[in-house]
Amino acid sequence: MTAFAVQPVTGADLDLLVDLYARSFDEPYARPALESLIDSPGAWAAIAWRDGPAGRQGVGFIIARMVAGEGEILSLGVPVPARRRGVGRALLTDALYRLALSGADDVFLEVGEDNPGAVALYRGLGFRQVGRRRGYYLRKNGRRVSALIMRYPVKKSDYSLE
Ligand SMILES: CC(C)(COP(=O)(O)OP(=O)(O)OC[C@H]1O[C@@H](n2cnc3c(N)ncnc32)[C@H](O)[C@@H]1OP(=O)(O)O)[C@@H](O)C(=O)NCCC(=O)NCCS
Repeated sequence: MTAFAVQPVTGADLDLLVDLYARSFDEPYARPALESLIDSPGAWAAIAWRDGPAGRQGVGFIIARMVAGEGEILSLGVPVPARRRGVGRALLTDALYRLALSGADDVFLEVGEDNPGAVALYRGLGFRQVGRRRGYYLRKNGRRVSALIMRYPVKKSDYSLE
């Protein structure tokens, strides 16, 4: 994969965001619901763009939120063909930077315990498990899966904020 850039979502990107979500999670997120999520207080989304021979292409997205001094990663997705090329790491790194600059002391997220790839990504960037919601997700096959709650403590010195 060639170089890519992470940029905040604008209104014009909304259809692409809906498409990236559906291709990352294999299930849709209704456009109005997604729109109202990113319009909610403190929330924003970003898309990773790749410049290739076929032109500019969106290859992943992240949705995050800053509330009362805490950051939250609400969703992160990279469609299968673009995976394992550093897109997820770049999106998350960018979101952590933005949240740190907004004054977050900690950033939290929830991830299914049946998702070791995502857990490895989060651990690699410094998130650690701080809790577990038992049977939190209901999978398509009817199986209940627990959510791991993970926390990233923002070190102000990492972001030149001290
Ligand atoms: C999780 C997800 C966002 C990762 O995106 P990605 O662009 O493939 O991740 P990266 O290439 O940046 O991976 C960075 C590191 O994370 C870890 N990692 C990512 N995916 C992994 C996998 N499937 N298995 C093991 N480790 C994995 C690795 O340490 C990887 O580094 P490496 O490739 O040098 O070994 C992507 O797999 C995805 O969209 N999955 C479906 C949706 C989802 O589960 N989202 C998260 C919900 S909480």
